[in-house]
Amino acid sequence: MKRAFYLIGNWKMNKSSGEAKEFFATFSNQIQKLQVKNRVGIAPPFTSLHAASLGNTGGAVWLGAQNMGLKESGAHTGEVAPSMLKEHGVEFVILGHSERRHIYRESSGMVADKVLLALQSGLTPIVCVGETEKERHDGNTMQVIRSELEPALKGVAEQDLEKIIIAYEPLWAVGTGKVATPEEVSLVHRQCRDFLTQVLGEGVGEKISILYGGSVNSSNVESLASASDVDGFLVGGASLKIEDFVSLVNLTKDKLL
Ligand code: PGA
Repeated sequence: MKRAFYLIGNWKMNKSSGEAKEFFATFSNQIQKLQVKNRVGIAPPFTSLHAASLGNTGGAVWLGAQNMGLKESGAHTGEVAPSMLKEHGVEFVILGHSERRHIYRESSGMVADKVLLALQSGLTPIVCVGETEKERHDGNTMQVIRSELEPALKGVAEQDLEKIIIAYEPLWAVGTGKVATPEEVSLVHRQCRDFLTQVLGEGVGEKISILYGGSVNSSNVESLASASDVDGFLVGGASLKIEDFVSLVNLTKDKLL
């Protein structure tokens, strides 16, 4: 099966409901005109999801959340359950983003539980992994990524593995303006595929889409998109302005259409 290509915006803690609705109304219109076949998605903050879904005419934009609670309901102050997300038309969820792992101390065990719950709930998990600058400098890039990937995927039923999307987001490139080179990205993605095949079974690594994230913008997206083993992008800063995100869509059109 051919892997799909994805362009996903991660709005982080930006945009009010009003701004989200306006953005989605304009952006979904442009996406519809382009007849994009692969997934162009955006993950607004929880409080803007409802407004975003109202602006998302024809459901042209794949709607996602940036995180999700560990359980379906109950005593989990401050958390949001998968069914609550689905109520607003959410179809994918970003899990284990480096800001969740590092600022909010989310463990790989928690990410693993969320991956299973997301799949059970019919949400597509986008699982983020990536090394810090020091870890890369010390030659530990793959050791770190393997320690994040293995727990996240090992409990997943065989038939669900290809529903998962992985996002390789080196921390030194997220929000810094420093972007990994296409060669660096290709090498890590290839090593991830080989590792997935080794621990999960024949061919698994070739079936899972692996996105790159970290300072992707209109000046680097084309060279990154043509790198081998890259199935799309998770985009922070450059997804916040319509013209910037539309330009990424246009620059990767041959992969998206
Ligand atoms: P950035 O963020 O594109 O602003 O570097 C990417 C992300 O955190 O997903």
